[in-house]
Amino acid sequence: MPQCFHTVKELREYLKPLKAQGKTVGLVPTMGALHQGHATLISNSAKENDITVVSVFVNPTQFGPTEDFDAYPRTLEADLEVVGKAGGDVVFAPSPAEMYPSSDDTWVEVTGNITKVLCGKSRPIHFRGVTTVVSKLFNIVGPTRAYFGQKDAQQVEVLRRMVKDMFFDLELRIVPIVREESGLARSSRNTYLSAEEKSAAVILSKTLKIALEKFKAGTTKVEDIISFTRTEIAKEPLANIEYVECYGLPGLYELSDEVKAPSLLAVAVRFGTTRLIDNIILE
Ligand code: PAJ
Repeated sequence: MPQCFHTVKELREYLKPLKAQGKTVGLVPTMGALHQGHATLISNSAKENDITVVSVFVNPTQFGPTEDFDAYPRTLEADLEVVGKAGGDVVFAPSPAEMYPSSDDTWVEVTGNITKVLCGKSRPIHFRGVTTVVSKLFNIVGPTRAYFGQKDAQQVEVLRRMVKDMFFDLELRIVPIVREESGLARSSRNTYLSAEEKSAAVILSKTLKIALEKFKAGTTKVEDIISFTRTEIAKEPLANIEYVECYGLPGLYELSDEVKAPSLLAVAVRFGTTRLIDNIILE
């Protein structure tokens, strides 16, 4: 079982002598309810670093007032087991008061289109919460490398920008999307889905895969790729589309007429009350 610390002080005291010996540290930030996707990030970190720290913290500042902060699954005991099996050494599971010690807030915010498009439209404070908590974690741990999943493609772009602009001295390592056998992207929120919704949700990965094939076969107009994806997903009666969008990489720049490789094709779709996201890189 990995060691579990709840305070910044304890974690820093543990890491200090190890860093003094020149050991490399991998950080895997998570909100817990760990699944195979998280486990892949952890095992990648364990392969590439002497010590792997996994943070488990349901970060209140990245949830909007009507979102699922209270309902978000909290399963620390099971998480410790996943971390141990995947080769992680330490779990950092702070309380909200530990992470947000002042009554007034200090924010780290990436502004501009990169946080306004895609999920930024319906979740206006989300990325400010993510960049703030991730910069706190970077400052607490001082990792050599930090691991994030391509599942949250916009989060990756926003964090790349933050690391560059704030001169964080670490390497970002991005792990491809881990999927269930059906193709459904693994997510802590999949536990909210009924069996029927879960099989309906397969439409997302299936459609994105076909869209990539179409792009490779010569369908390169942004409008055509988006309307194909939208139409296919809408054929599933349980799917309620929030967005289907396509932006250029890196940095989610606005595409004019043609998709330029590499570009991100991303979707957010509700099945019942559960909002799922998925994406594919057109290249
Ligand atoms: P969470 O949703 O718990 O995800 C933690 C990390 O696991 C993220 O980098 C996410 O992209 C990655 N991940 C989740 N499912 C994945 C999958 N199916 N394949 C590959 N990677 C996957 O993302 C967050 O938490 C938070 O915003 C956080 C960065 C921890 C800040 O609070």
